[in-house]
Amino acid sequence: MPLHVHQHPLAAHIITHLRDKTTKPATFRTLAYQLSLLLAIEATSEIETVEKQIETPLEAVTGRVLAHQPLVVVPILRAGLGMLQPFTDLFPDVSVGYIGLERDHDTALARSYYCKLPPLKNTRVLLVDPMLATGGSAVKALDVIFGRGATEVDLLNIVAAPEGVAIVEKHYPAIRIFSGALDRELNAKKYILPGLGDFGDRLYGT
Ligand code: PRP
Ligand code: URA
Repeated sequence: MPLHVHQHPLAAHIITHLRDKTTKPATFRTLAYQLSLLLAIEATSEIETVEKQIETPLEAVTGRVLAHQPLVVVPILRAGLGMLQPFTDLFPDVSVGYIGLERDHDTALARSYYCKLPPLKNTRVLLVDPMLATGGSAVKALDVIFGRGATEVDLLNIVAAPEGVAIVEKHYPAIRIFSGALDRELNAKKYILPGLGDFGDRLYGT
């Protein structure tokens, strides 16, 4: 099963406050940061480390530090920007790529308007987008990322809908999806239920 729903009780606490329609953008941004931090830690729990000899003030010791496997985080604009900072905070050498996609309000089909990516061959890519609804945006972004030569890609969302998980799984059965919650379904306008509304609007107060 490619879907990993985050199990720490904090995730449920944070998502409940994100869902709450009275939560204002400043708090919403903090909560998005906190949940993305949990997801970043979970998705990288098997990241490669190497031995390093150091001296503490008291004696020599062999510790471990991150290996030099290039890590790339790719937020899908614009809402994905709300998940970016934990990665740059945790991983000092991370590279950042950007994919701009916007759903059409009537058709819910994603339109591409921007793409700037570092070289992706031999890297580990973490694609971040808070909402996995129809899965159209995620699959479009994955097409671009795999098209640029990436082979190791994880997708991180705050809320996923079963429809989106199924589409991603159908197109990319090997990738792992890390999500804060798996919601019930999509409504007629392709918004997630119970969901939290339009993530980008709530993040940026638009
Ligand atoms: C939202 C969200 C995802 C997309 C998910 O972005 O951030 O990118 O919808 O929907 P899907 O799975 O049906 O494709 P939106 O298009 O609203 O743009 P925004 O981030 O600029 O607000
Ligand atoms: N995009 C959002 O921001 N929210 C949804 O529920 C679906 C797509």
